[in-house]
Amino acid sequence: MTTDLAIVGAAYLVAAILFILSLAGLSRHESSKRGNTYGIIGMVIALVATLWIAGKSAGLPQWVAIIVAMAIGAAIGVRLAVRVGMTEMPELIAMLHSFVGLAAVLVGYNTYLVSTETHPVAELAVGATPGGTDAVHLVEIFLGVFIGAVTFTGSIVAFLKLSAKISSRPLMLPARHWLNLAAVVVSLALMVWFVVSPAILPLGIMTVIALAFGWHLVASIGGGDMPVVISMLNSYSGWAAAAAGFMLDNDLLIVTGALVGSSGAYLSYIMCKAMNRSFVSVIAGGFGSDGTVTGEEVDYGDHRDTTVAEVAELLKSAHSVVITPGYGMAVAQAQYPVADLTAKLRERGIDVRFGIHPVAGRLPGHMNVLLAEAKVPYDIVLEMDEVNDDFPDTDVVLVIGANDTVNPAAAEDPSSPIAGMPVLEVWKARDVIVFKRSMAAGYAGVQNPLFFRDNTAMLFGDAKDRVEDIIKAL
Ligand code: TAP
Repeated sequence: MTTDLAIVGAAYLVAAILFILSLAGLSRHESSKRGNTYGIIGMVIALVATLWIAGKSAGLPQWVAIIVAMAIGAAIGVRLAVRVGMTEMPELIAMLHSFVGLAAVLVGYNTYLVSTETHPVAELAVGATPGGTDAVHLVEIFLGVFIGAVTFTGSIVAFLKLSAKISSRPLMLPARHWLNLAAVVVSLALMVWFVVSPAILPLGIMTVIALAFGWHLVASIGGGDMPVVISMLNSYSGWAAAAAGFMLDNDLLIVTGALVGSSGAYLSYIMCKAMNRSFVSVIAGGFGSDGTVTGEEVDYGDHRDTTVAEVAELLKSAHSVVITPGYGMAVAQAQYPVADLTAKLRERGIDVRFGIHPVAGRLPGHMNVLLAEAKVPYDIVLEMDEVNDDFPDTDVVLVIGANDTVNPAAAEDPSSPIAGMPVLEVWKARDVIVFKRSMAAGYAGVQNPLFFRDNTAMLFGDAKDRVEDIIKAL
């Protein structure tokens, strides 16, 4: 058995290294496919090693039960992954995070029940055994269930908001910060009770509080801040997995959970910086926002319509063009004609570049993935900060299905719900063409004054159809 454990330990070490290489690979376009492959190999090694040792230590019936459960789970997962559209990925990710949270809760309760089966509750209490190791074990169980429950309901609310099943407006309960604080303080008191007298009652009460806490945390965050919430829940799901690893005494789960937890936390931090939001404010469920933002309808005057022929003429005479894609490009699947249009314009000697907002679309890197899929060269795809100073020298900006990420109200109207969020300053270019189907608002539900500016013209219709029409007209 010692040799078996050593083999599994070595396999887990190799898998952990592959996961680290995978994260490193995924941080750059050029190496992302390799990063993905490392991750897949690492996961296969981890699964085979775990199944092998489970088969050796458990009886055949248990082993068969694990295989059957895995086969059912894999069948559901494959079916979902094949059917899901690119635009529904964030919802799917939120749902998967909720499963991790639920798993941590179940592992916590299972570990508690197994512990009480082998030791009477009185023996589990702190000081009942020398060395206090049981106290550590009890804290692990308590924290694992707490983080898991917060992740579970928080992710379900994120799923409901992202799939528009509930409103993306922030829930502004009176004294909401005090409610959050009370949930944390009462949970800490329950942890002390649980460690001193490990009955199921404090664990149960805390679970109910944590479920409500997770729900409230995400419900109080507004639509524009959802990107940060997604990466924050990603981080929570990592910590929940690490907590499950401690309870199950599984080193690889601890390492993997910590990798996901810390990289998710770092991504949340980067996103908060990119959106000019306070990290603490967002993780504390909108703490600091006083809820007085209005986002009321304002009369900005009339917009100007344009035609495919006019846009084609404008492009022919342009020297520099910047394309700023958004969620609508993903909905329309317009990335392929956009790539063709880019190639056509570049053949004519026109300088074409892309400006990517950090939260364009519905998941981190959404636009980069779509453009890479359509084989747009990486070197002309620029981040917001790299392109923002160039707009005053740009002839034409094509805003393809973007809205909130090019909204001047963020920079100019302090009462706007998205005030302070840096945006692509497309209105500074000579001409702006907006591709969308109507005058409807974007994800944050805020009107966009860009559409009414003198240098902006609206080209209505499905983005893919309109871009294809322009290619024909060129
Ligand atoms: P949005 O503000 O969501 O606007 C997208 C626009 O695309 C809509 O106004 C829509 O207008 C248009 N559109 C939809 N389908 C179209 C089609 N087939 N053809 C042409 N246009 C179409 O997009 P954005 O600028 O990318 O901003 C992203 C927003 O999502 C931000 O508020 C961000 O905070 C939020 N968010 C981002 C993430 C991440 S991680 N990126 C996650 C969650 C939320 P019509 O309906 O009039 O066509």
